[in-house]
Amino acid sequence: MFKKLALSAVAALGLFSGSAFAAGEGGHVEDFDFSFEGPFGAYDQAQLQRGLQIFTEVCSACHGLKFVPLRTLGDEGGPGLPEDQVRAYAAQNFEVYDAELEDTRPAIPTDHFPENNGVGAPDLSLMAKARAGFHGPYGTGLSQLFNGMGGAEYIASILTGYTGETKVEAGTTFYENHAFSTGWIAMAPPLAGEDVEFADGHSNELHHEAQDVAAFLMWTAEPKMMARKHAGFVGVLFLTLLSVLLYLTNKRIWRPIKHKPE
Ligand code: HEC
Repeated sequence: MFKKLALSAVAALGLFSGSAFAAGEGGHVEDFDFSFEGPFGAYDQAQLQRGLQIFTEVCSACHGLKFVPLRTLGDEGGPGLPEDQVRAYAAQNFEVYDAELEDTRPAIPTDHFPENNGVGAPDLSLMAKARAGFHGPYGTGLSQLFNGMGGAEYIASILTGYTGETKVEAGTTFYENHAFSTGWIAMAPPLAGEDVEFADGHSNELHHEAQDVAAFLMWTAEPKMMARKHAGFVGVLFLTLLSVLLYLTNKRIWRPIKHKPE
């Protein structure tokens, strides 16, 4: 009985992972450790704040985050900035076009991060989810289960995956990058290490910066991850309890029949 169950579980897992997560021609994605991995993982608020700073000072020059409302920077489980800081951050960093004023004005918390199509860089709001399809060399999905290799790892790998080689093709410069699917990406290395100064003196080595901004982009793509994990945990707990109760009920119902006097 148990053997049968185990076999079907393995078969189901195989089918599921095989179809849902078939990996494309992936580059080399490294396994980074993130605080939000695993069933009880949670975002690290200080890391999200550092990531926000890197995004603001470096990435936002070319990339937008048009699906992310600025007010969510104050959300619990996210960067968790106090309300006045959210307002100041919005006003200081972004100008938005207001159709009513027919002019631009400083951003307010109800605005979204601006989009940015200037140099043809993709919007990063959902990038961490869009690139989560890479789950290791065999595309079984098990890698993500065990190593947590998803979109955040992919982004951190891109940022640290430059070899320093470049080539020019049809007027565009491409930079060799181990993590990018084709091996050559049109984004110049955005981080070199020591690109930003953190107020708390946290390390700004390339490896750390890459992880911080990747964690921040994971949050923009999945701001409710912690709520989801919590709901999942409560669900599993409830189902476990229900199974026990049903098992005992079953025993009880059949007891008079199984133990009938001969
Ligand atoms: C000078 C402009 C510029 C800056 C600054 C920049 N990027 Fe990019 N980025 C690009 C361009 C252009 C592309 C498209 C590259 C391509 O498709 O070959 C890109 C693509 C990407 C991609 C998508 C890769 C993929 O799989 O399609 C990610 C992720 C990314 N950038 C992250 C970042 C992060 C994080 C930062 C800040 C640390 C950053 N970028 C800063 C120009 C920039």
